[in-house]
Amino acid sequence: MKFAINSLLIASAVAATVNADVWKITSLDKGTRDNTCSRQVQACQNNCGGPSLAPMAFCNSTTMAWGCGCLNNTPNMEVWNWPVPAADCSGSLNACKNNCSAKDNASACFVNCTNTHMCNTEDAPVSYTSSSDVSIAPKYVGPAVSYKGDKLGDLNDGNNRDGLTPSPSHSGSSNPKSESDGSQKGASDSINSATRFQLTSAAVLAAFAAAVSF
Ligand SMILES: *[C@@H]1O[C@H](CO)[C@@H](O)[C@H](O)[C@H]1NC(C)=O
Ligand SMILES: *[C@@H]1O[C@H](CO)[C@@H](O)[C@H](O)[C@H]1NC(C)=O
Ligand SMILES: *[C@@H]1O[C@H](CO)[C@@H](O)[C@H](O)[C@H]1NC(C)=O
Ligand SMILES: *[C@@H]1O[C@H](CO)[C@@H](O)[C@H](O)[C@H]1NC(C)=O
Repeated sequence: MKFAINSLLIASAVAATVNADVWKITSLDKGTRDNTCSRQVQACQNNCGGPSLAPMAFCNSTTMAWGCGCLNNTPNMEVWNWPVPAADCSGSLNACKNNCSAKDNASACFVNCTNTHMCNTEDAPVSYTSSSDVSIAPKYVGPAVSYKGDKLGDLNDGNNRDGLTPSPSHSGSSNPKSESDGSQKGASDSINSATRFQLTSAAVLAAFAAAVSF
C-alpha cells in the first residue's frame, strides 16, 4: 500500500512540471528552465572567477543548450554537477520512476531507475545538453552511458535509444568523461568564438561538447 501511495505522489509531482510522456529537458516549465539556466550561467561565471572572465558562459532557456568557457582557467566543476546536466538527470529519473507503474515488477523497476540514474556522480547518464553555441540546439538523446564510460541499462524515460551505441569519436577517445568535463576545446572548433572574444593562445575555451563524443 505504501508503495502505491509513493507512486501516486511521484506521478503527480512529475505531471506538475513535465507535460510530455517522453522526457526531454525542454518539457520543464518556463520558470524552471529560466531558473536552471540562470544558475547554470552563474555557476560558470563563479568558476571562471567572475563574469568578465567567462566569455562563453551561456544557457539558452528555450533549448537549454549550455556551455562554459573561461578566459584564464579550465572550468573545474564536474560536468554532472552543473545545473543543466543535473536537472536533465533528475528529470529522466522522475520519468523513469513515473513509468514504473506500467511495469509488472514496480519495485524492481524503481531499483533499476535508481541504479541507472546516479545523478550528480560520475555514474550518472551522460546528458546531451551541451552545445558549442547558444543558438545551436543540443542533441538531447544519445547512448545510455555514464560519464565514467560504463554502458547503462534502460533509462526508461520514454526515449528510444535503440541503435544508439557508443562509438569511438574521430578524435580517438571514446571516454565521455575526458571529452566532456572541461577538457580544452580544440582550436579549430573555436575559431569563431576565439575571434569574437579575441582570446589569446593561452586562453581556454571549454564547451563541454559531450554531443560530439559519439
Ligand atoms: C521483483 O523483482 C525483485 C528483484 O529482482 C525480486 O526479488 C522479486 O521477487 C520480484 N517480484 C515479483 C512479484 O516478481
Ligand atoms: C531491471 O533491470 C534488469 C537489468 O537491466 C532487467 O533485466 C529487468 O527487466 C529490469 N526490471 C524492470 C522491472 O524493469
Ligand atoms: C535560443 O535558441 C533558439 C532556438 O534555436 C534561438 O531561436 C534563439 O535565438 C536562441 N537564443 C539566443 C540568445 O541565441
Ligand atoms: C513506459 O514504459 C513503456 C513500456 O516499456 C514504454 O512504452 C513507454 O515509452 C514508457 N514511458 C515513459 C514515459 O518512459
